[in-house]
Amino acid sequence: MFSSMASLPIDPILGLMAKFREDPNSDKVDLSVGVYKTANGHTPIFEAVKAAEKYRLETEDTKAYIGMMGTPGYNDAMLRLLIGADYPSDRIAAALTPGGCGALRVASEFLMRANPDATVWVSDPTWANHMPLIGGVGLKIKTYPYYDKASHGVNFSGMIETLKGLGPNDVVLLHASCHNPSGADLSPAQWDEIAAVAAERGFIPFIDSAYQGLGEGLDADAYGIRKIAASVEEMILASSCSKNFGLYRDRVGQVAVMTKADRKEVTVGQISSIARGMYSMPPAHGGAVVEHILTTPSLTASWQKELAGICSSIQTSRTLLKAGLEKAGVEGDFAYLIQNQGMFSFLDLTVEQINKLQADYSVYLVNSGRINLAGVTANNIDYLAASIKSVTG
Ligand code: LMR
Repeated sequence: MFSSMASLPIDPILGLMAKFREDPNSDKVDLSVGVYKTANGHTPIFEAVKAAEKYRLETEDTKAYIGMMGTPGYNDAMLRLLIGADYPSDRIAAALTPGGCGALRVASEFLMRANPDATVWVSDPTWANHMPLIGGVGLKIKTYPYYDKASHGVNFSGMIETLKGLGPNDVVLLHASCHNPSGADLSPAQWDEIAAVAAERGFIPFIDSAYQGLGEGLDADAYGIRKIAASVEEMILASSCSKNFGLYRDRVGQVAVMTKADRKEVTVGQISSIARGMYSMPPAHGGAVVEHILTTPSLTASWQKELAGICSSIQTSRTLLKAGLEKAGVEGDFAYLIQNQGMFSFLDLTVEQINKLQADYSVYLVNSGRINLAGVTANNIDYLAASIKSVTG
């Protein structure tokens, strides 16, 4: 039975992580997977996470099952963080999920049950894993214009024109902040316009928030979420604690569905049944850690401080890269590297140049040209810029 299985290409992002680990070159540079690293290549555990884990170890007194939706305390704390303390609790069904991927998959299954004819519109380009997570349930996927290669920013006129043509059978996936892969974000005024068009046309906003706090700050990065939540009756919010709590391997996320009045219980039932059919219930550990941090003021403050430090270190990497490329004489205007937000930006490299960077210099990036800025450090910038100069001529 199994011999007929086709061999598949390795995942374009996670595959590089493994290749990088195996590379013996001591000069190797990892600009691939979206994981924060310090200058010596280490991904630290937040102090607040360590403290919350210690607390959990000391106080947890059972390993009995938690519910299919996770704990109410976690869901409430996350919704406060994402939508604000005044979120409409009577209209939101929220569940702890195994990571942001779990949230996106549960949301997609929910959409498929709600309307199998729905089309999900994703930005061109979007995170590579959106396709299998959303398309894998059988939903149709189409793209709306987003990234403008020339300016390295958002092609907003193209985007909004497409959205103006959509209606109630359409779902629009939006990146809350720190667009993955481009780093090109929407301004508050652009979010206002999208919210107005969503309310007028009746499409469902489906927001993916995986980088809150890594762009312009926790509140600024949630501007779009809050604006949309205040403007429409129905929306979906999928969020991840991988990056902003550094809980990558613990798999912590949340799916939240905002419904019309009186539909909350039905929605809770649907999400519970989707979870039950997929993984029964989410793992408890990471959610408990996040809940403890967000409900303990001293830990919240410590977490926010460390997150702000990570954010500013990525901004420093952006400045370093711009200056390094200019100094090495690489052709181009790199001002956009400072304007983009979050972990990612594109470098205008061909697949051939990207392959050469990996083969000849052990510099790893995905073949779209997306780079994780956290991999650029004061220690490797000269080597990195010289490598890029050499492959670009
Ligand atoms: C990325 O885009 O690199 C991260 O979100 C990690 C992943 O799972 O792809």
